[in-house]
Amino acid sequence: MRIGVCTGGGDCPGLNAAIRAVVKYGLQHGHQMIGVLDSYHGMMSDPLHVRTLDWTDVSEILHRGGTILGTHNSGTTFSDKDAIKRAVSGYTSLQLDALVVIGGEGTQEMARKLIEAGLNIVGVPKTIDNDLPGTERTIGFTSCVDLVADSIERLHSTAESHDRVMVLEVMGRDSGYIAAYGGIAGGANVVLIPEIPFHYEKVCEKIQRRKDLGRTYSVVVVAEGAKPVAGEALYKKHQGNERLGGIGEVLAHELYRQTSMETRVTVLGHLQRGGHPSAEDRLLATRLGCRALELVHEKKFGMIVGSQGDKVAEYYYKDIQPGARRVLKPDNDLLRFAEGIGISFGR
Ligand code: F6P
Repeated sequence: MRIGVCTGGGDCPGLNAAIRAVVKYGLQHGHQMIGVLDSYHGMMSDPLHVRTLDWTDVSEILHRGGTILGTHNSGTTFSDKDAIKRAVSGYTSLQLDALVVIGGEGTQEMARKLIEAGLNIVGVPKTIDNDLPGTERTIGFTSCVDLVADSIERLHSTAESHDRVMVLEVMGRDSGYIAAYGGIAGGANVVLIPEIPFHYEKVCEKIQRRKDLGRTYSVVVVAEGAKPVAGEALYKKHQGNERLGGIGEVLAHELYRQTSMETRVTVLGHLQRGGHPSAEDRLLATRLGCRALELVHEKKFGMIVGSQGDKVAEYYYKDIQPGARRVLKPDNDLLRFAEGIGISFGR
């Protein structure tokens, strides 16, 4: 078979590990592997923007961040009415038998449209946000959590030296996975997530309680999509687009106003998407990439793979609700246990 592979959406650690798995598994089984460059653009542009992928192209990339195929997350890829037609025509001229799409929510929504248009697609879920339905983990999430946990650890020592409240704003859109998992793993004192609207008073109470116990500093992690009770998530205008962000600054200001403690803000930003993948992400990318190719090999198309505990699972795109996103349940065990050891969620 001639099998295409592309990466779409925001990059994350582990994309190259997934590409490597897909390509090596394909080559091992005698297939011809084609890299479609810059997300779907590679098969929609004229001339087509693709490259043949051989063993040497995917050697030494397991540990590398980013994606050797390039990516896009502008969301404009399929905005014009001829877009699907152009993608189908690119796929046909490339004489592809199947396309493996490694991507997040937007990319998989586009994959769904291409499946409806008759293309043979198998999806692989990736995003640092861990917010895709049908999988417990997305590629990139645990690498991001490692970085957030390490950052909190570093903030602890400087917070302690200066008797400050350090606020760390992290990514995640409307889901609190990054903030909660990173915050708990890093030993944050307060974690604020979109799923649990917070009370400023509760956050201040926690900081004051620590102070009364002689701990004259605190570390607060806030997800970019977190909001106070009766408030809204904050957006910033950035190069013509609205992007989530700014809650860290507002929170720090309010904590200073209510506690008189000096505060500082760190916005972790795209550091969360860079660098090498964690061992767990390398394993996940290898498992999901290989399973995707197995499905292609078995001619089971229109499916997306995922992880459920130690197992690899797969679902039909048509069985997943369009636009569905995975968020943390406020009564989640991990959150409950975190509260059990004194971490505040501002509720
Ligand atoms: O979805 C991944 C993500 O990193 C989000 O957590 C964040 O809100 C967004 O992408 C940032 O996107 P951009 O690369 O456009 O700044």
